[in-house]
Amino acid sequence: MICVSIAQKTQEEALAAIERSARVAKALELRMDVIGQGDLTELMEACRQASPDIKIIVTCRRPEESLLSVALSAGAARKTISQAEKMALFRQAATLGADFIDLELACGENAIKKMRAFIRRLKSPTKIIVSWHDLSRTPSLARLKSIFHLGQQTGADVVKIVPFARQPKDNLKTLGLLAYAKTQKIPLIAMCMGDEGKISRVLASFLGSYVTFATLPGVGQSAPGQLTVGAMKEIYRLMEKGESAARPELANPPQHNFVLLGNPVGHSLSPLMHNRALKELSIDGHYSACRVEDLSAAVTGIRGLNLRGASVTIPFKTAVMEYLDSIDEDAAALGAVNTIVNERGILTGYNTDWLGLILAVKDRMAIAGKTFVVLGAGGAARAAVYGLQKEGARVIIVNRTEKKGRALAVRFGCSFYPLSEVKKICADCLLNTTSAGMFPDIEQSPVPSSVLNHFEVVADVIYNPLQTRLLQEALAQGCQIISGLEMFVRQGAGQIKLWTGREAPLALMRKIIQERLENLEF
Ligand code: ATR
Repeated sequence: MICVSIAQKTQEEALAAIERSARVAKALELRMDVIGQGDLTELMEACRQASPDIKIIVTCRRPEESLLSVALSAGAARKTISQAEKMALFRQAATLGADFIDLELACGENAIKKMRAFIRRLKSPTKIIVSWHDLSRTPSLARLKSIFHLGQQTGADVVKIVPFARQPKDNLKTLGLLAYAKTQKIPLIAMCMGDEGKISRVLASFLGSYVTFATLPGVGQSAPGQLTVGAMKEIYRLMEKGESAARPELANPPQHNFVLLGNPVGHSLSPLMHNRALKELSIDGHYSACRVEDLSAAVTGIRGLNLRGASVTIPFKTAVMEYLDSIDEDAAALGAVNTIVNERGILTGYNTDWLGLILAVKDRMAIAGKTFVVLGAGGAARAAVYGLQKEGARVIIVNRTEKKGRALAVRFGCSFYPLSEVKKICADCLLNTTSAGMFPDIEQSPVPSSVLNHFEVVADVIYNPLQTRLLQEALAQGCQIISGLEMFVRQGAGQIKLWTGREAPLALMRKIIQERLENLEF
């Protein structure tokens, strides 16, 4: 079972990390000693909302057993958590039905037994992990075995032993303990911290460790030596199938063929755009749309058919992440993948949606230091907010449904206004990411035309019709406009660059799509 530790310094950051990690891990460990002002109820709710079957481990590590705490307190004095506060937190976790609570052996046998009695009285399903860490060394196997027995005597459901590896042979001692635990019929989590201990993190799960801890790109390690979930999964894949079976493509690099995975895909303009671009670049390949029913099988097909890559569209941009071997940092931060690149059987997920949008805007106005109003709170809004903030803009989110809008605003630390209050805002640019005004509802506009003179620039992610009612009204008010066509073409150009390493023929792609859309005009 791969577990990602949520060890962010604020509740907001922790909530964002939960959302990303729950998609790829089987368990999440909430490090309540690190998450400042952590609200356990909200965090556990977020875990379950992100993935109903996810296992939740609640931990409140004492600083003496955490290298992360040592690193954090080097910067600033951190609040110390008393044993009484810690036990109260664990009682809360058991009451909320956490799957596991992690108590250090150092809490004392009495405290652990009292907690067991509390859980029994509560009839809670919560299990107790009794843990032991050594931040500086790995003792002898005999000593590790006696620590294991001390843990066992407390009535632990699972024992966890994590020493620090100074040299490669420390891994052998710790992994040897896993074989011993099997004879004792009690689940054990065992691995070594530190760079020298990395190998133990890989081998531990093959040798029966109950849990292995991994990290996500951009989420940050909770202990030194952790590998990413993608790297772990790739290793499992190789170990389970054998290297030659897992990578038949090694001698046979992928062809330049591509698919669009989505459902529905019938009206997509991507095949037209990409096939013209491939032809222009004299690349002998083809791009086809594929209506997907079984996403896992479709991703397997990318490897099996030796395709160079894929685009991913609604409704799979998030779901696809768990089938990939690694996720680029921006895509991981956004929680959405729209592009897959196949490097000899290794599938990496990227996101060019946010980049396409930013490049289209940047082409027309400076972003840094400007204020943008983003209308909407779905996937497109998230990509926009992410990119705009990355470029140094101030973002205000405006959405029809307040709860959804506020949640996005909290996630990105922006301000929020309900749609009914949009008239109160003046800003440099208004960016529509909602579907209001999209074909066939072309008479709709997300905001009244009377507010448009509050903005210098008005942009719309919609490209069908080419000029939405919003953009027409903005032009009439003297605003500059940016059309969704530009964003669409630029996200496609980003895909071409990732797949082929070549600059896409942007002008040609724009012309082809514009012509097609003009011919669709009503
Ligand atoms: P996507 O992932 O493509 O961005 P989505 O997740 O369905 O799509 O989100 C669409 C967004 O557009 C939502 O924020 C939605 O507002 P609600 O949160 O109130 O549902 C917004 N939206 C859709 N149609 C709208 C309309 N006619 N007026 C205003 N907002 C609209």
